[in-house]
Amino acid sequence: DGVIVVDHPLVKHKLTLMREKDRSTKSFRQLLNEIGMLLCYEVTRDLPTEMVEIETPLTKSMQPVIAGKKLVFAPILRAGVGFLDSMLELVPAARVAHIGLYRDPDTLQAVEYYFKAPSDIADRMIVVMDPMLATANSAVAAVERLKERGARDLRFVCLLAAPEGIARLRGAHPDVRIWTAAIDERLNEHGYIVPGLGDAGDRMFG
Ligand code: PRP
Repeated sequence: DGVIVVDHPLVKHKLTLMREKDRSTKSFRQLLNEIGMLLCYEVTRDLPTEMVEIETPLTKSMQPVIAGKKLVFAPILRAGVGFLDSMLELVPAARVAHIGLYRDPDTLQAVEYYFKAPSDIADRMIVVMDPMLATANSAVAAVERLKERGARDLRFVCLLAAPEGIARLRGAHPDVRIWTAAIDERLNEHGYIVPGLGDAGDRMFG
């Protein structure tokens, strides 16, 4: 409930390639962008539209356009940036909020090192993005921070989720729906998703 698994064959295939340990940085990054575009297509599927009058070469006509304020994309640094380019390609007018969090390797708590969001996020739909939803400490911290700043309409997009992370994020923020390409088996003792794909940030940026 509140979790949408985007299991399109193209997404599944590309994700399998990303899991391979010998895949190059370049290819990993490209695949993440490609899947990002497909996830963006799904997370925006129910955006409201409104009718406007336009002129075709033949006649005046009422046609739909997206209604309301521009979206905000909120990547969690660093790995979330891997989704940003492709999502901006699909939604070029979106605003961007950068959320810098790193996961303390011992406590697994999310530590904030950067936060910069547009001032008027209260009336906009916000798509928080991070390839990995492991313990969900990062996602919960990001959503809390955005809510502190007035955000009310939030969605979370990831590539891989652990069942533990889904339960935690849904428990802490039941209003935030989750789109993911896959739900993996579990977290290991270091908080890594298994079978997973390793550390997305490291695989993308080194
Ligand atoms: C990783 C990953 C997520 C987070 C997921 O980031 O990219 O942001 O951990 O874990 P969680 O759900 O348990 O919080 P990391 O701290 O390694 O930073 P990076 O993206 O800069 O590599």
